[in-house]
Amino acid sequence: MSNLIVINHKLKNFNQKITVSGDKSLSIRWVLFSSIADGVSEAHNLLMSDDVYAAIDAIKKLGVKVIIKKKICKIFGNGINGYKFKKNLVINAQNSGTLGRLILGLLVDSPTTIKLIGDKSLSKRDFKRITNPLKKFGVTFKLNKDKGLPLTIKGSNNLKAINYLEDKGSAQCKSSIIFAGMKSLGTTFIKAKKSRNHTELLCKYLNLPVTVTTKNNYDLIKVSNVKKIKPLNYNIPSDISSSAFFMVLTSLSKESKLIIENVNINPSRTGVITILKKMGVIIIFKNTKSYKGEKIADIHIKSPRNLKPINCPKRLNSGAIDEFLVIFLLAAKAKGISSFKDLSELNQKESPRLKWGAKILNKMGIKTILTNDSIKIFGNPNLEINKKIIIKDYLKDHRIFMTSVIAALSFGGEWHIHDKDSIKTSFPLFLNIVNSLKK
Ligand code: S3P
Repeated sequence: MSNLIVINHKLKNFNQKITVSGDKSLSIRWVLFSSIADGVSEAHNLLMSDDVYAAIDAIKKLGVKVIIKKKICKIFGNGINGYKFKKNLVINAQNSGTLGRLILGLLVDSPTTIKLIGDKSLSKRDFKRITNPLKKFGVTFKLNKDKGLPLTIKGSNNLKAINYLEDKGSAQCKSSIIFAGMKSLGTTFIKAKKSRNHTELLCKYLNLPVTVTTKNNYDLIKVSNVKKIKPLNYNIPSDISSSAFFMVLTSLSKESKLIIENVNINPSRTGVITILKKMGVIIIFKNTKSYKGEKIADIHIKSPRNLKPINCPKRLNSGAIDEFLVIFLLAAKAKGISSFKDLSELNQKESPRLKWGAKILNKMGIKTILTNDSIKIFGNPNLEINKKIIIKDYLKDHRIFMTSVIAALSFGGEWHIHDKDSIKTSFPLFLNIVNSLKK
């Protein structure tokens, strides 16, 4: 099968109901928590993507039994101190920053040296943001070029609790420190800039000694030593980041309606909803419910008549961090100039996404002004593309692939988009759902 797709037709109006795949952040966290629980945990609707398989492979290497049968995943946890740290262990996080960073927090007590590797994209990403705080617990690291992967970690049997200021707003960083705090003696205090809080909600549901209080835009998280974790049966809700591609597709369409069922609408993840609403899109939540601390709803969305430009408030950045690429497509069609600021973290993702966002828009004929941490987008409500656009060499960033597909289906032109396989990392069924909208 070719790894290139060519799209040269816009999508017609649609009126449909879809279900997207399970939430990636929750799926990886479920795998990791279950691996250190005492007993068997079971998940339904676990995201079956390469990032999650990499997490499963990692815990298997650490001696944890996993069975996947009829879409149900069972993990036989060995307890908080139950990993088997064999000699010369190599863990491959592949493309997953979440796995690579969170698992380090669980390896802090390894008596042997473990090597962590990843693919080309992950090897370019910053791991110092994790190794710096973990070193304070008493963990030893060696990093490639002093920054990233491959790295080696050797833990300590005398982990000391720490005080740490996490000011990037990185949930990966915060979660890794929470895991390390759970394995340390004493109480770890983290002052963390607000970011997605799935780890804290799972800790709360599991009755672990992790408490959170909020002050201004920061969470004060207190983590004490954990002795035992009960098994965690979980029905993973759908991923709002995967849903976002279809929300934007609907918003760029003339007269379409879409319902996306059973989506995780945790308020730390709904930045995209707030942004779309500010741009004039009508979105309603129905069937809203709580599930093990998370909020879930069906998202009902309708094409707007016009799209308004946005001066995006910085406070929405963290809650929409994975959605900006596709949000930029809306700004491309809005009547006026949109502006997004303080987004340097966007260049720290699977590819430098702020730069790539500008690159895709420029290829589409949209003017942008780009800095290291901001972008201004000069929208054109009459945008129609009539040329050939090639998207390649983007470090196989799944979100660049999917954003390009949405642009092709919305604005026309002849798009040659390489590295279709990239969607396997987060949303293997993406193109199947796109095709279901054609009917
Ligand atoms: C994630 C956190 C975010 C996000 C990533 C998933 C998580 O990264 O971009 O896709 O599951 O914790 P940062 O924590 O680096 O901001």
